[in-house]
Amino acid sequence: MSIDVVILAAGKGTRMHSEKPKVLHSIAGKAMLEHVVNTASQLASSKLHVVVGYAADAIEAYFENKETQHISWATQAEQLGTGHAVAQALPKLDISSEENKVLVLYGDVPLIQKRTLENLLATVNSETVALLTLVTENPAGLGRIIRDTDNAVVAIVEEKDASDAEKQIQETNSGILAVPAKKLARWLNDIGNDNEQGEYYLTDVIAMAVNDGCKIAATIIEDGFEVQGVNDKKQLAMLERHFQMQNAEALMEQGVALLDPARLDVRGEVECGKDVEIDVNVVLEGKVTIKDGARIGPGVTIKDSVIEEGATILSGSNLEGAVVGKNSSVGPHARLRPGTVLNEGCKVGNFVEIKNAVFGKGSKASHLAYIGDAELGEGVNIGAGTIFCNYDGANKHKTTIGNNVFIGSNSVLVAPVTLADNSFVAAGSAINKNVPKDMLAIARGRQKHIEGWGRPKKKTS
Ligand code: UD1
Ligand code: MG
Repeated sequence: MSIDVVILAAGKGTRMHSEKPKVLHSIAGKAMLEHVVNTASQLASSKLHVVVGYAADAIEAYFENKETQHISWATQAEQLGTGHAVAQALPKLDISSEENKVLVLYGDVPLIQKRTLENLLATVNSETVALLTLVTENPAGLGRIIRDTDNAVVAIVEEKDASDAEKQIQETNSGILAVPAKKLARWLNDIGNDNEQGEYYLTDVIAMAVNDGCKIAATIIEDGFEVQGVNDKKQLAMLERHFQMQNAEALMEQGVALLDPARLDVRGEVECGKDVEIDVNVVLEGKVTIKDGARIGPGVTIKDSVIEEGATILSGSNLEGAVVGKNSSVGPHARLRPGTVLNEGCKVGNFVEIKNAVFGKGSKASHLAYIGDAELGEGVNIGAGTIFCNYDGANKHKTTIGNNVFIGSNSVLVAPVTLADNSFVAAGSAINKNVPKDMLAIARGRQKHIEGWGRPKKKTS
């Protein structure tokens, strides 16, 4: 038995008012189509087919660098309907056996859950089509589910082809269905486009299946968000909020204290330890690990970083590709760029930017500094206004600082340069030579006092 999953993604999505194909618009920082692909990948022994049309190149390019299951692409040059779309993937589907199954998903229905799909796949067989339906008070625009007097599903009628009586039906087609592969191939061949929209409707296979003596097993979905499609930016935002709230609830169930679950955005994977506290308006992107007892202040953005036990990130800080050591404190308003590693008990204060630099245990940069391409020992103190000149206009150079070094305020360290253990730099120095161990380095103009100096006076005309 084989399972082929066909994901429809050929439409432009006119109502998005965007150059970008609809399925590449994001939910939680990930294209809608990627959500669907990821969910489908979790189904046992499934092969993935995506039907693309509008901006096919952009869609394929998006997946080039993603670690998803292999995708077999099918092209639908002209969008002639959902039936026509599935037919474009047909040559690649395994229709060799009556047992084989085809699952049809939409690339713009991103929140469908694995469990729902597994249930559909467990229901479909060579004599049964499994259909996912939605009962809604507002069925406008959707295909209606037609049932006979025995309550058996016999057809789907599209809104534009529906009679007034059919339009009253509140059970609608979600668009998601599982079909026996071999029969699907035959039915697709027979679909016509003699309807109000002149399209080849996939939904026509329902009546054909009934004609062939197949049963239609319709499952009514409970959570409407799972089958909610995105047609415009309002629906995109609505699904984003729903997704974020589900994520926040999962974190709280795990024990994370969120000061306001509605004001946390997770765009990636977050792993939290015990007694983690997250204040409002925090954005977590990529892979973020926050260990036991760490606290994240308001308005903090963290991407691809690790926050060790007991560390504190104060308000307005921005971290990317950083490791913040145990009991360290960062911010408010600090910026840690890729390659920043703070060991235990470090302190990085306001308006400090760090890039590709390692801080030894207990080292500090409390205010206003740029520290790039550097290695600092333990117990180092970087004064306010210190700049590491790591770039000469062509190349980057490294600054190496030993243990217990003190850099006075407003100093410039011109790399490549090494400051040995316990050395001390006087405030306002421009250091471009290595400083030996235990030495005081002063590199600034000497202070002079000019006697008998007269202040400039205002001219009188
Ligand atoms: C379709 C269903 C309708 C259902 C509704 C649920 C049909 C005929 N109708 O209607 O019963 O209630 O979805 O949202 O199936 N697509 C292609 N190529 C095409 C046409 C569509 O790839 O030629 C893709 C679209 O990009 C989209 C999906 O298929 O992802 C659904 O297409 P859409 O035009 O939104 O379908 P509806 O007319 O809304
Ligand atoms: Mg349509």
